Amino acid sequence: MARILITSALPYINGVKHLGTLTGSMLPADVFARFQRARGNETLYICATDEHGTPAELAAAEAGQDVRTYCDEHHVLQHDIGRAFGLSWDWFGRSSNAPNHRLTQHFAQKLEANSLIEERTDKMVYSIDDRRFLPDRYVEGTCPRCAYDRARGDQCDNCGELLDPTDLIAPHSVISGSTNIEVRDTRHLYVLQTKLEGRIRDWVDSRADSWPTLTRGIAYKHLDEGLIDRGITRDLAWGIPVVRDGAPRPGFENKVFYVWFDAPIEYIGATVEWSEATGADWKRWWRNDEGAADVEYVQFMGKDNVAFHTVNFPATILGSGEPWKLVDRLKAFNWLNWYGDKFSTTNKRGVFMDAALELLPPDLWRWYLTANAPEGSDTAFTWEQFQSTVNKDLADVLGNFVNRIAKFNEVRFEGLVPAGGEPGPLEDKLVADVAAQLVELTSQLDAIEMRKAAQAVRALWVLGNEYLQEAAPWTAIKTDPARAAVVVRTGLNLAALYARVSAPFIPFAAESILSAFGEPWPAAWPSTDVAAELSRLEAGRPIRVPDVLFPKVLDEQIAEWTERFGGAQGA
Ligand code: MF3
Ligand code: ZN
Repeated sequence: MARILITSALPYINGVKHLGTLTGSMLPADVFARFQRARGNETLYICATDEHGTPAELAAAEAGQDVRTYCDEHHVLQHDIGRAFGLSWDWFGRSSNAPNHRLTQHFAQKLEANSLIEERTDKMVYSIDDRRFLPDRYVEGTCPRCAYDRARGDQCDNCGELLDPTDLIAPHSVISGSTNIEVRDTRHLYVLQTKLEGRIRDWVDSRADSWPTLTRGIAYKHLDEGLIDRGITRDLAWGIPVVRDGAPRPGFENKVFYVWFDAPIEYIGATVEWSEATGADWKRWWRNDEGAADVEYVQFMGKDNVAFHTVNFPATILGSGEPWKLVDRLKAFNWLNWYGDKFSTTNKRGVFMDAALELLPPDLWRWYLTANAPEGSDTAFTWEQFQSTVNKDLADVLGNFVNRIAKFNEVRFEGLVPAGGEPGPLEDKLVADVAAQLVELTSQLDAIEMRKAAQAVRALWVLGNEYLQEAAPWTAIKTDPARAAVVVRTGLNLAALYARVSAPFIPFAAESILSAFGEPWPAAWPSTDVAAELSRLEAGRPIRVPDVLFPKVLDEQIAEWTERFGGAQGA
């Protein structure tokens, strides 16, 4: 039995996430976690809200709340929506919780003890009217590259350029709108990544073979451009305080750690939260000297997060000189766009997680988003493609098969698994075909190739309808009841097997099939002995016809939602 640690990039606290965020981190991590648990591997899936930095402060200000209250409320909201989507986190923590404070301060102290942190004087944008510095998103102005006039201090949303607040032309304060702004000196801590460059590159070299092209490309691009020392503190009130010897660090009383310094440390922090809540041991997941060397650690994230996870966070870990677990496999995703354009909160373009659940059950979203995961390149969500994918795959193929076989069994065999008859050549062929697709599915899930894995599940489902069509139990029942019994028994077993292998993708439907069939939940992954797997359900076992598994998405709905959420016209 292997041990698998899984983390998905921590969603910012600043509002409900859109489907792109779900697709590129939390959902594939969940599919993988469910698969690993089903195989009997000891699995820990950790996530949390990323609560610090200017995104949190600004969202709270906009909501008219103090930042702590805002975070308290939005943590619960994101937690509940994630659960409603079936995200099977073992723990969903908060980067503002005490364990992350302790760990972040610990890492900073270790880095400093190893001469990898330095205090430097920086030039930062200061608002005279607001009487404060304006880090990152607190300042907006004109982009020096593309002249977009609403570029933020950390990034231009129009051209994507990463910026420094001092780069902006005609800057103004986001708080007061004031342009009464100057550049002042301020002291900050820097992690000396230049000193760590060799160690980071050696580590990347040792792992990169197992990384997908996307991950590897981004990691080496950053290394090849040359690392720079990185400021890890900010002039902000909300965040993790900078301490020395247990007291506020002199000169840093009004500063906190930069959100990108503490956020990845929360992967560990959230595991400590989990351990405090459950009594479980967290060190065997994170400390190589306490057993974590045997753990396989897999991270999931969108491509914009890759540099932080292949360079910056490893710099923290390696620089500490302590035996912390580093990532083994890193699965990155491209963007899911909305009709070829970005999702946008401000322009109300695209569907957000809460709205999605009001429209349709989670399995429909989960299936579409996994089957169309942006793995090779950016992909576009379109209502038309969504409708045709879920109607075809879920309602017409899987739902129809399960329903047909269970109904037929109810009408002809009183809802009990029929006895009698011996499998023949059609069943032998079915067993061979299912076995081949099952091997394909298992290996694609192992490889975290989500689209290919979804293709393999779909191919498995198709086999069922083909089999029923050929074996035609509705004809056999008239002349050869024993033959009909074999076909129905095989079909029912096949439906149960479908539920087991589909569970990582569509857990709600899988559970309702298995419960209608009197099978255990959560279900174990089937063995490669498919003949045995297809004779699991003993004769005489009562089988219910499951309730409608997947509603059909109607043309009227698509028309209405296109209007409401934007579609091709809005692009
Ligand atoms: N909140 C960040 C984002 O949404 C991701 C943080 S990942 C972590 O882009 F590792 F830093 F936690
Ligand atoms: Zn720009």
